[in-house]
Amino acid sequence: DMPDQVRIHEVGPRDGLQNEKAVVPTEVKAEFIRRLADAGLSTIEATSFVHPKWVPQLADAEQLMPMLSGVDARLPALVPNERGLERALALGVDEIAVFGSATESFAKANLNRSVDESLAMFEPVVSRARDAGARVRGYLSMCFGDPWEGPVPVHQVVGVARRLFDLGCHELSLGDTIGVATPGHVTALLAALREDGLTADRLAVHFHDTYGQALANTLAALQSGVSTVDASAGGLGGCPYAKSATGNLATEDLVWMLKGLGIDTGVDLGRLTATSVWMAAHLGRPSPSRTVRALSHK
Ligand code: HMG
Ligand code: MG
Repeated sequence: DMPDQVRIHEVGPRDGLQNEKAVVPTEVKAEFIRRLADAGLSTIEATSFVHPKWVPQLADAEQLMPMLSGVDARLPALVPNERGLERALALGVDEIAVFGSATESFAKANLNRSVDESLAMFEPVVSRARDAGARVRGYLSMCFGDPWEGPVPVHQVVGVARRLFDLGCHELSLGDTIGVATPGHVTALLAALREDGLTADRLAVHFHDTYGQALANTLAALQSGVSTVDASAGGLGGCPYAKSATGNLATEDLVWMLKGLGIDTGVDLGRLTATSVWMAAHLGRPSPSRTVRALSHK
């Protein structure tokens, strides 16, 4: 059964820009987010409150957030620890995401912690955020394959997913950080999660397009009842701590497919494409999205 509506969780300003070699000026980021909201995106992940040395591209979170006060969209931000939460709450951020890993190797590379240690780090973040009235999304990285460990067993993913929900996350986004998933694997993981009581209405999917499978994987997830899909305008993105990861599923490619399926997103594809073309000019390279290319060469 396909959902009637899909909520797109736009991650371009965070997952996209964190992976750019060039540091994008704060005013350009703010303009990017304003344009994404004007194109109809209702949730736009704006930045991260992580250590500035780990992700220098997003070190301007304190400058950026106040520039977004009039933007009509939910503006979540990534927060790994209590230091990050304090920074976010001080700026009035009311929606955060913690980000765990299904594998030990990536937990270490991304958070300098084991899986157990990272969950222990998140525990006070989630409870304090919820006490402050903030919504907390959980991310789970390396749900399909890991660059160091290879294919990741489904039961291992289900185990960490369960622990993130037990901390109090309202939603969990399943990350294919390096883009190795294929549709059958997606269906199998969602079935295993459902068997454990983790139903599709509480899940989102987060595909990277390294092997060109992101859209096919998304369709498989929709057929399993998932209705929240992460995507990045123009296909920006990747992850600096996972080699071989490329951009996220492009938001334009997603909107094009959903439009064809008659599924409503509220996104204006023309405005969105224009935004990605504008951003590509700032970054000095064309968007990898096929839909952006097709629509901008008409
Ligand atoms: P650490 O080095 O273990 O930090 O890093 P620590 O806890 O030992 O603290 C060391 C110093 O850093 C301290 O300062 C802290 O105050 C400071 P000192 O007392 O020595 O002067 N510090 C901070 N400063 C500012 N903001 C903070 C902060 N935390 C500590 N939040 C840490 C641990 C978690 C901080 C680090 O590993 C980190 O920042 N990691 C973030 C990595 C990241 O952002 N990765 C990309 C996002 S995940 C992703 O892209 C995947 C996803 O898209 C899904 C998918 O595709 O799978 C979500
Ligand atoms: Mg990602």
